[in-house]
Amino acid sequence: MEKINSSPLCYKKGKLHFDNIPLETIAGKVKTPFYLYSEKTLLQNYNHFLESANKAMICEPLICFALKANPNLKLLKSLAKNGAGADIVSGGELKRALDAGIKASKIVFSGVGKTKEEIIKGIKAGIYSFNVESIEELEQINLEAKKLKKRARVAFRLNPKVHAKTHKHISTGFKTHKFGILKSDILKAVKNKKYWTHTDLVGLSMHIGSQLTCLKATKKAVKELGLLANEVNRPLEFLDVGGGLGVDYGPEEKKNFSTPYEYMSLISKELQSSFYKNYAFDNQTRIVFEPGRVIAARAGAFITKVIRTKKSEDCFFAIVDGGMNDFVRTSLYGAYHEILTEKKGAGKKVKTDIVGPICETADCFGTGRSLPRLNPGDLISVGDVGAYGFSMASHYNMRELPKEIIVSSKGKLS
Ligand code: LLP
Repeated sequence: MEKINSSPLCYKKGKLHFDNIPLETIAGKVKTPFYLYSEKTLLQNYNHFLESANKAMICEPLICFALKANPNLKLLKSLAKNGAGADIVSGGELKRALDAGIKASKIVFSGVGKTKEEIIKGIKAGIYSFNVESIEELEQINLEAKKLKKRARVAFRLNPKVHAKTHKHISTGFKTHKFGILKSDILKAVKNKKYWTHTDLVGLSMHIGSQLTCLKATKKAVKELGLLANEVNRPLEFLDVGGGLGVDYGPEEKKNFSTPYEYMSLISKELQSSFYKNYAFDNQTRIVFEPGRVIAARAGAFITKVIRTKKSEDCFFAIVDGGMNDFVRTSLYGAYHEILTEKKGAGKKVKTDIVGPICETADCFGTGRSLPRLNPGDLISVGDVGAYGFSMASHYNMRELPKEIIVSSKGKLS
């Protein structure tokens, strides 16, 4: 199966197009800076992920899209229509998922800091699972369910004590990280009846980090999850293997990327030998996934306009109207994102630093990029920003949030 690599951006007759619409036409209708999404690419990625699971013999997978990657209502509605569930981490995300038409029975609630109010909302909505991150949290869910005279569905999030190779800010599977519960503590809690008066253990979960390129840690963690599932010795409805599959953002990330199919095959194989082979119950245990980036990243571009250019000795800056408040990944993680100019330009290329108007040196989308000579008014696209783009935008420097524009699967702008 081929890699997910299809960007909605391409040049036609020297002009940048997004989903076959000239960028110039779109920018003529919307004030820059703005996010531009391709519904078609998003759904292609979602379907590819799902098909890869089926191909790897994963039965009835539940794909819970991680809302934190992109909570755009229209895009979520589109995913919901295609059967997606949601991985949420707040009451706000719960509301958004339900508003988008995602069924409560397909929502998993992760996060170490669920508040009492959020727990109550989740119980009332009847979500598929609270992925609990501490025994203290389990105790509180049990208590709130008791007060509501209901039962809550819970899954332990295992901390598998693995080091996922990724940016240290987004590695989440080691014991020094705040996430998940250690195996020994889970096994103790399973046997302690006081936690289970108003809760049911329906699954186990994990999530060891994001933008995972090497799957060594994933393999180890999935195995741990499978072994724990048997030690728990209860009929489980699901095992949730989290999200995290990485995306190839471009030249500075010279790594081997796994395709969704390779990722699914690894999970399928690991669970087969560590779990299914020894599973002692009749019920089927399905696999839940929580992908965000791999579904949404390629589906988005950030469109910004050059305000002015500036030369300082051998440095050439293009100062654009979008800033780190709009898109923060390059500033926060030093992430690489492809930058394309609206006109392909045949002339000599100029090494350019693309910087924003914010008063921080980190406010930069790319340094030393070889680009056609830019001038005020020129448009630029920052690529692969459909995940963790708008969702991390802020009002820093009292700036407005950027707009979000969607090209529908039928090619309509909205
Ligand atoms: N499940 C849980 C419990 C998570 O915490 C996350 C992401 C996901 C699923 C989805 O992971 P994905 O498939 O998207 O890798 N802002 C950072 C990424 C933070 C990820 C946080 N958790 C970035 O821009 O790289």
